[in-house]
Amino acid sequence: MILLSAYQTRDLLAARDEGVDEIDVSLDLGLSQTRIRVGPEGVLLPGGALLPWPEIERIQDNEQAVFRITEEGGIEKVQAFSETFGRLYSLMPTAGAPTMLISGIPMHRIKGTDPMTDTRTKVKAAGPRGRVLDTCTGLGYTAILAAQRAEEVVTIELDPAVIELCRVNPWSRTLFDSPNITQLIGDSFDSIAEFEDASFDRIIHDPPMFSLAGYLYSADFYGELHRVLKRGGRVFHYIGDLRSKSGRNVARSAARRLQGAGFRVVKRRPEAFGLLAIK
Ligand SMILES: C[S@@+](CC[C@H](N)C(=O)[O-])C[C@H]1O[C@@H](n2cnc3c(N)ncnc32)[C@H](O)[C@@H]1O
Repeated sequence: MILLSAYQTRDLLAARDEGVDEIDVSLDLGLSQTRIRVGPEGVLLPGGALLPWPEIERIQDNEQAVFRITEEGGIEKVQAFSETFGRLYSLMPTAGAPTMLISGIPMHRIKGTDPMTDTRTKVKAAGPRGRVLDTCTGLGYTAILAAQRAEEVVTIELDPAVIELCRVNPWSRTLFDSPNITQLIGDSFDSIAEFEDASFDRIIHDPPMFSLAGYLYSADFYGELHRVLKRGGRVFHYIGDLRSKSGRNVARSAARRLQGAGFRVVKRRPEAFGLLAIK
């Protein structure tokens, strides 16, 4: 599958303007480079399809979108509508890994950082080892990075439409290839009840913001996180910017409920935009 965004079409248009015949460009959102021919009508893609200049200009004009190139050399925005949850998901390009827009809101931090750097910080704060529970799959970046250090990662996603976009996103590929990642579809709030007591070493809890999924910040859910965690185990709970008024308030009340749920230590991790809770 060939994917392009404004990050690549900028180079294609520059090549046209400079009269260059061939150019190395990424057709997988920056993971690898492919040499393609630049012609008067457009660029010649692997497989032989011609992507005409007007289509390339349309991609360039839409900096927030990723496009899939069809076999006929047409373009299609990479997005999925979830009938069940009434949400529109789309891939949004960055200079590195793409993020996902959920009804217009980016799933990862992108201001002054990028989705993979954001993810690395979360995963580092969790310190993955042994068996890890990742409560909210999203694009799978936390699961993928945690699986590099843990024996097993179990990751849960509520909406199958999100997983559809993971299948298109080259940066999510390891989610499907990795032998030590188990993917579950369901509501973490319900699915967690099926895990045995003390069956995880680490938990990465990266939920939607409090106003969208308050129940994933509830005393009941924190009680379940505590139950499934081994003694000495850790939860990294992403909250948002702890220096902002809302982040500070959410973190303060979440910390109180985590302590109420039995976590003996709850620490602020402002650099990772979250809390670390130790059982
Ligand atoms: C902030 S994103 C997670 C990003 C992810 N950690 C990553 O690395 O890409 C939150 C994700 O949780 C999913 N979600 C929302 N509510 C959920 C629930 N109750 N159980 C499981 N997943 C949920 C959303 O659909 C979204 O994909």
